[in-house]
Amino acid sequence: MSNSGISRLYKNIVSLKNSFISTLQKISLPPKSDLERTRAISKNFFLHIHSTRIHKYTLHPAFTMGLGLIAFSLFIILLFTGILLMFYYTPSVEQAYFSVKDITFLVAGGKIIRNMHRWAGHAMIVVVILHIARVFYTSAYTRTRRINWLIGLALLIITILFSFSGYLLPWDQLGYWATTIASNIAASLDELTDALGITSYFNVGLFIKHIILGANSVGQDALNRFYLLHVVVLPILSIIFIGVHFWRIRKSGGLNLPANADQLVVHTSNMSNQKTEIQKQGHSRKKQNIETILSWPTLLWAELSVFMICLAILMIFSYFLDAPLREIANPAVAENPAKSPWYFLGLQELVSYSAFSGGIAIPSLLLIALILIPFLDKEEKYSGVWFSGKQGQKVAFQSLIFVLLTTVTTVLFTVKAGWLKNWFPEIPQLIIIVINPGTILAFFYAFWSIIVLKKTDSTRMAAIALFTCIFVGFLIFTAVGNWFRGINWEFIY
Ligand code: HEM
Repeated sequence: MSNSGISRLYKNIVSLKNSFISTLQKISLPPKSDLERTRAISKNFFLHIHSTRIHKYTLHPAFTMGLGLIAFSLFIILLFTGILLMFYYTPSVEQAYFSVKDITFLVAGGKIIRNMHRWAGHAMIVVVILHIARVFYTSAYTRTRRINWLIGLALLIITILFSFSGYLLPWDQLGYWATTIASNIAASLDELTDALGITSYFNVGLFIKHIILGANSVGQDALNRFYLLHVVVLPILSIIFIGVHFWRIRKSGGLNLPANADQLVVHTSNMSNQKTEIQKQGHSRKKQNIETILSWPTLLWAELSVFMICLAILMIFSYFLDAPLREIANPAVAENPAKSPWYFLGLQELVSYSAFSGGIAIPSLLLIALILIPFLDKEEKYSGVWFSGKQGQKVAFQSLIFVLLTTVTTVLFTVKAGWLKNWFPEIPQLIIIVINPGTILAFFYAFWSIIVLKKTDSTRMAAIALFTCIFVGFLIFTAVGNWFRGINWEFIY
């Protein structure tokens, strides 16, 4: 190359380097004026999902506990580790188990990636449930946030399906029998059609089972379906729904803050400086709280920190605790007790009394109650305040006592004395479907919520009573199914 050619190349490289540095500076160094910062943020994709400024209280750990963000961090970790697992996993009945064994014992780093994927999946369900509780108890479902509550419920279902579809993929005894039990729970509509004597005309339970498994029992068709759901359909749906979820938060003007959020934030010199800066620039802040900070860089750093902490905890956990992998699936040797995944064990416990009630009626009622909450409670007072203040704390506490008493007593009673079928073996199945521990408790919870409504004349308080009963009731039944049921579903201590 001639000398002039080299110097032209050198000039090009220098100019490329300069433009790269100036771009980096534009997005990474804090620009001088508020307007410049706003422009830098709105041009940047990652920052564009947030509003330019957020209220400082948004970052207060006791407000959101970072639960939504932790759920999102886990989702990203799941996507990343899931893609890595796909390099070695083979979705076939003959090879799935051995490919998972290879990942665990032969592939370098495979074990920790699999452990991280498994534990992150479980953690995500726990975190999403806690996130619902935080959103509910800070009444962040009111007005424009109603839609986001519904989108959140869709995300809850997607998260559960994600975990459930992944359970089968290792093709071991645990996943095989858990999927068999869960698909039987879904097929429990046939208890109702049996009781009505119409199963021979339309076996709807079997139909549902067919849709889930692609056959009468768990086999290659089910594995295909679960794999496709797990690696294609659910990731796409999650990305769409999470995107809309975040967009709706922005559309609602950020998180649902308490009216006195300004007074709640700690005043730092930094904050006062920003306030004076805003006042100097004369921006109209009529509609906004004054205690705001720029999303960039504070929020982004906070988000990255949460992500890094989640990653670190998960890695440490996965280093010490291995994901289970039992023997290869064997349709001829049933697990005893055959248990569905832990989050369905509360339902499995109810199914042990009545398949239709526990498997279809009660989960549907639960979902309908959660859907209706923002439409029944239209109060705006105390929005954004944990438990809506002192009265709500009292109602939540009383509801906790109520649900503990009624639910634990019912469970212990049925364990000691049995239920209708034990006393009257000939009793019609329809009566068992209508009167069983699940339906009785659902009635008690609704009744308690109506009493609270009458006493306080507040839909918010009634919602707190109902939600606390459902939430704690779910925890109790899940605990019973997980820790107190042994061989043949006998109660064990
Ligand atoms: C994949 C699951 C989910 C992810 C990744 C997620 C993520 C988030 C994030 C990051 C926030 C903002 C910060 C925070 O509140 O912690 C948020 C807020 C919110 N989430 Fe979720 N969420 C999920 C599931 C749910 C569910 C199941 C519900 C309710 C049924 C829900 C309802 C809401 C609502 C209403 C807000 C707005 C809160 C407010 O305005 O203060 N989300 N979510």
